[in-house]
Amino acid sequence: SDTEKGTYPFYMLKEIDEQPAVMRTLLQKYLDDAGKPKIETDLLKALNQADRLYILAAGTSYNAGLVAKSIFEKLANIPTEVQLASEFGYNTPLLSKKPFFLFLSQSGETADSRQVLVKVNQWGYPSLTITNSEGSTLSREATYTMLLDAGPEIAVASTKAYTAQIALQTILAKALGDVRQQTTATDFDVKGQLSIVANEMQSLVDEKELINSLAKNYLATTRNAFYIGRGYDFAVSLEAALKLKEISYVQAEGFAGAELKHGTISLIEDGTPVMAIITDKRVASHTRGNIQEVKARGAHVLTIAMDSVAQPEDNITFSDVDPMLTPLLTVVPAQLLAYYTSLNRGYDVDKPRNLAKAVTVE
Ligand code: G6P
Repeated sequence: SDTEKGTYPFYMLKEIDEQPAVMRTLLQKYLDDAGKPKIETDLLKALNQADRLYILAAGTSYNAGLVAKSIFEKLANIPTEVQLASEFGYNTPLLSKKPFFLFLSQSGETADSRQVLVKVNQWGYPSLTITNSEGSTLSREATYTMLLDAGPEIAVASTKAYTAQIALQTILAKALGDVRQQTTATDFDVKGQLSIVANEMQSLVDEKELINSLAKNYLATTRNAFYIGRGYDFAVSLEAALKLKEISYVQAEGFAGAELKHGTISLIEDGTPVMAIITDKRVASHTRGNIQEVKARGAHVLTIAMDSVAQPEDNITFSDVDPMLTPLLTVVPAQLLAYYTSLNRGYDVDKPRNLAKAVTVE
């Protein structure tokens, strides 16, 4: 059943493997036969009336929000802010005239997010919760709910909820963009593009042997590591670093490639692992430049690249997809690198020390 590990040693690996199927389930549930989004009319109306979208989340869900911000702005032409729920609670930004609040939460129970929703309801603003947990507090208390239907996520380190959140928000952004007659949306074949992504995701989860050997080669004993990228690849770098920290206890940092020169490069020593994510052709040469800079200081560089910008020496590559959807793919090798690093170090992958699946206290 869904909640059993079967032949998997850990839930995390099972949940990584389930991601292509989760993509297909979302397409089935949220698109009609013609590939048009099926979204509650009232929800779309409320979104269409909003002048700004505020995405509230914590942890991995926050990282999924960072990706979704660019997708909402591109497809639906709605200004979007992403805020950590904990910060928003105390440091409430100046709100726009017609805000719409989007709560992202795998569990639907994160206390920091719940507190913000209480305020939003007091203010009387509309809200949507995107969650994997039917009947959860955030879903009950928001105006609207959309379920991820990713199946139970048991491992503390979130994987399929991240990709499901990005995919579902893409469908929602497409629906809103259609209503607003944005050509970026009307020209975007969400069904076709997400289907291609699901297939390519399958190829990446099938690369376990390669990724395990890279984990052994690059991350077996290191105390620290870095992910670099630009644009979408930067957003994924943050999630990639979080995965590594959570379960392998490697002190990992994700940052924008250009920021190297503003500080982080001082940390590069002989053998420091640097994972570079490269999918955007506008900035690929700059990230290649960053690779040269860190290599010159002794870094051990691992690359994850999309075919159109790949070079023969890249470690992990995948076929081209819509640039906006690359986070759904580049995150997969990062999840597997974290998984194998934790496994090879002998840790309990599913139950990392000091962490809880849902943090229900402030
Ligand atoms: C905890 C979990 C994280 C998760 C975060 C937010 O810290 O360990 O994996 O990303 O909570 O959880 P949520 O359920 O709100 O997405």
